[in-house]
This record gives sequence, structure tokens and C-alpha cells, in this order.
Amino acid sequence: MKLLVTGGAGFIGSEFVRMTLRTHPEDEVVVLDKLTYAGNRANLAPVESDARFRFVQGDIADRDLVNDLAGTVDVIVNFAAESHVDRSLESPGQFIQTDVHGVYVLLEAARSSRHARFLQVSTDEVYGDVTTGRSVETDLLSPRSPYSASKAGGELLIWSYRTSYGFPAIITRGSNTYGQYQFPEKIIPLFITNAIDDRPLPIYGNGQAVRDYLFVEDHCSGIDTALRKGSPGENYNVGIGTEINGITVADTILRLLGKPDALKEHVRDRLGHDQRYAIDTAKLRGLGWEPSVTFEEGMKRTVDWYVANEEWWRPLKSRDFWEFYERNYRPQDEPVSKG
Ligand code: NAD
Ligand code: DAU
Repeated sequence: MKLLVTGGAGFIGSEFVRMTLRTHPEDEVVVLDKLTYAGNRANLAPVESDARFRFVQGDIADRDLVNDLAGTVDVIVNFAAESHVDRSLESPGQFIQTDVHGVYVLLEAARSSRHARFLQVSTDEVYGDVTTGRSVETDLLSPRSPYSASKAGGELLIWSYRTSYGFPAIITRGSNTYGQYQFPEKIIPLFITNAIDDRPLPIYGNGQAVRDYLFVEDHCSGIDTALRKGSPGENYNVGIGTEINGITVADTILRLLGKPDALKEHVRDRLGHDQRYAIDTAKLRGLGWEPSVTFEEGMKRTVDWYVANEEWWRPLKSRDFWEFYERNYRPQDEPVSKG
């Protein structure tokens, strides 16, 4: 297969590219990535010299560029997105532009090139806050943040292309993913890198919200399974099935790094904070996929990776990073401004 991997210089996309070139020797990969603050060419360093790999810097919303590239491949796998919930709460506009309009531009290009497959990497956040039970693929979508609403918007466009044009799209809905090469704004890499530097770990609210933390290699093998064995027109949940809260994430990191409990700091809660996501993954397991990395093992590997790769993450904690940090993290008792 010849794949166009959009957003392939980000955290999960770059793992997928490295894995595809390693495990499918017959495949070729073109990466299209805008290199936003979250995109990083260094994530692709291990494959840069592979003759089956090509990198193009550009925007998925650039119609001419996308049309040209789409005509040269068999399959499009779309990872490109604005992906951080807290940034979507501050400035939703770019999320609509990339996660909805960008998907539309990709769909139009794929439709006119008659691709055999299109895979959209979506998220369990489209189901919204799940108080009881587990979400199955046929559940109604109920997103509650600008990020999850924009991802749901991208999905709804895909659903309409399936119905209207018989468009062969697969959607995966992965749970919270962690591991090597993750930009240090998400909870796990932020807490690891802060703890290494003896900085506080900012826990939102009471720290009781749970997530189903999925190791990045398992997420990518799930996407690969859905792409190669899944049926066009179907949606697949990807998750491991655990429910781990923010306090446990912090405690695990402090224990693995041998740092004091006193680094835990409760800060003002995230607006509209979803307290629980939980998905049923029987459908993807029915295709032969299984996660292979436990939370404890994945956390150990991730902490070890950040300890050994300071030259990768230190430059990412830049002035812009700390400016966003100052705006985002507030004392617990500070009221929310309406401005
Ligand atoms: P990321 O923020 O690390 O990477 C996103 C990548 O997309 C970056 O390389 C960025 O430069 C690129 N990009 C952004 N806008 C673009 C545009 N307009 N055109 C081209 N490239 C653009 O994100 P991630 O954590 O790797 O997530 C990848 C995908 O997986 C996203 O679609 C996200 O919604 C989804 N997802 C993420 C998680 C998670 O826990 N991280 C879980 C489930 C699903
Ligand atoms: O579930 C899939 C989603 O997982 C993806 O679609 C998103 O792209 C990805 O960012 C992630 O979203 P979350 O909101 O779950 O991830 P985040 O790391 O931002 O937060 C995880 C939990 O930790 C959540 O309950 C909020 C809390 N948190 C987060 C940060 C950044 C803190 O307590 N402190 C923090 O500093």
C-alpha cells in the first residue's frame, strides 16, 4: 500500500509511520504535516533515510496540495488535528478549521481520487461524559468541549459521505494515549517533565476524573488492524479498559522517579471537565487486535524514555509553552473570568 499519513509528525501519527515502515516492508508512506507547535520533524528522524518515506510540509486545508498528494496514494490515514482540550477552551477557532474544515478538504480529495480506504483517527471524547457503562460504536455522540465537538463534526461529515456517496471510510475512536514523543502539554508527559525538574504537578480539581490510558504502540496497532482488516463504513473503539484518575497518574510518576508527594498541587478545574470516558472494544478485538502493554509497564517505559531524551522535550517547553501555562493554570479558588 501507498499511504498518505496526515499529521504524521505528531505524537501518535509519527508512531504509526515508524511502525508501518517497520512492520510492512512493502508499504510506502508520504507524510503531510503543517508542523504546528505540536508537530516535530525530530519525531520522524528514525525513518528519514528510508527510501519508502517522504515528508511534505503543508496544511490539510490546502485544497490544491491535498488534491495533488491524494492522487499519488491508495489510502489516506488522517491524524492531523488540533488535539489539546485546554487549548480548545481558550481558542476554539483553529479546531474548527483543522478538525472540521480540514477533514472536508481531505474527503473531497479522496472522493475524486476514488480511494480504496480512508481512515479517520477520532477519539472516545466524542461520546461525552459517560457516567455508567461503556460506550459502543452505535451510541449517539454527545461531545462537550470545543475539541471533542470539532472531532465529532469531522466524523459527521464522514458519515454523510458514506451515506451520500458510498465513501469507504473507517473511523477509529481511541482513548487517552501516552508514550514516547508526546508533546509535554498532556497530563502524562507534563507531569513527568515537571517532576524531573522538581516543579509542581498541577492536578485539575479533585483529581478524580478517570481516563482509559492506552500505550501509543497499542493505539497504533489498533489503527493498523482497523485499516487492514476492518470494513469500510464501520467505526471501531480502541482502548485498554482501565479507569485511572489524575491522582493515580501523579502518584505513579512520583514513585517511578523517586520524587516527593509534596509536588502534587491541586489547581482550578478544567471548564466542563468530562469525568469519565469508558469504551467497549469488543468489535476491534473481534478482528484479532489486543492491547499488549499494561498501564504499569507503559508508564515505566514512558518515564524511562523522557529521562533518557531530555534533548527532545526541553526545547518544547519554550516561552510560548510557559505563556500558555500561565494563562491555563490558576489557583483553585480563583473565579473563572467571563471575558
Ligand atoms: P498531536 O497534537 O501530537 O499531533 C497533531 C499533528 O497534526 C501535528 O504534527 C501537527 O503539526 C499536525 N497538524 C495540525 N494541524 C494540521 C493541519 N491543518 N494540517 C496538517 N497537519 C496538521 O496529536 P496526537 O495526540 O498525535 O493525536 C493525533 C490524532 O489522534 C488527532 O486526530 C487526535 O484527535 C486523535 N486522538 C488523540 C488521542 C490522544 O490521547 N493523544 C487519543 C485519541 C485520538
Ligand atoms: O480520550 C482521548 C483524548 O485524550 C484525545 O482525544 C485528546 O486529544 C487527548 O488530549 C486526551 O484528552 P484528555 O483531556 O483526556 O487528556 P489530558 O492529558 O489533557 O487530560 C487527562 C486528564 O488529566 C483529564 O482528566 C484532565 C487531567 N489533567 C490534565 C492536564 C493537562 C490534569 O489534572 N492536569 C493537567 O495539567
